[in-house]
Amino acid sequence: MATTNTDLQRRDWLLGAAGAALLATAPSQSFAHGAEAHLEMWSNEGCECCGQWAKHLQNYRFDVTQRQVEDVAAMRKQLGMPEKYAGCHVARVGRYVIDGHVPALDILRLLREQPSAIGLAVPDMPNGSPGMERGDRKDPYQVLLVGFDASATVFKSYP
Ligand code: CU
Ligand code: CU
Repeated sequence: MATTNTDLQRRDWLLGAAGAALLATAPSQSFAHGAEAHLEMWSNEGCECCGQWAKHLQNYRFDVTQRQVEDVAAMRKQLGMPEKYAGCHVARVGRYVIDGHVPALDILRLLREQPSAIGLAVPDMPNGSPGMERGDRKDPYQVLLVGFDASATVFKSYP
């Protein structure tokens, strides 16, 4: 039957690239398999680069809730990320805090590796980081893994 054939083809297609997205909706699915991770972020109203960062994450299938607050620093403090690592927005994903323009792939790696840490930060707002694209302007920057003792180690370097 023609319909069966179509159904089978559709199923094949779903089990391909799009299948991952469907599986991702299952709550039991772990982050490790590229499943959709929910990320809640806090930023100032009207800060455009925060919205751009959110879009970047959505492109990597993060489920992003963006909240606008007046005092991002207060939120950062509440979440336990030291102010010295501050970017322009702070976020929570799983048990981790993410500060600033951290690339999605580094967050996915964090979720996969599950190190014992507060989370990741890209302090300040380097040009060329996700959400901070400024044409040819690219600053070298580092993604820091921030430990519970407020120390930081380099998680990833971008030239
Ligand atoms: Cu920014
Ligand atoms: Cu911003």
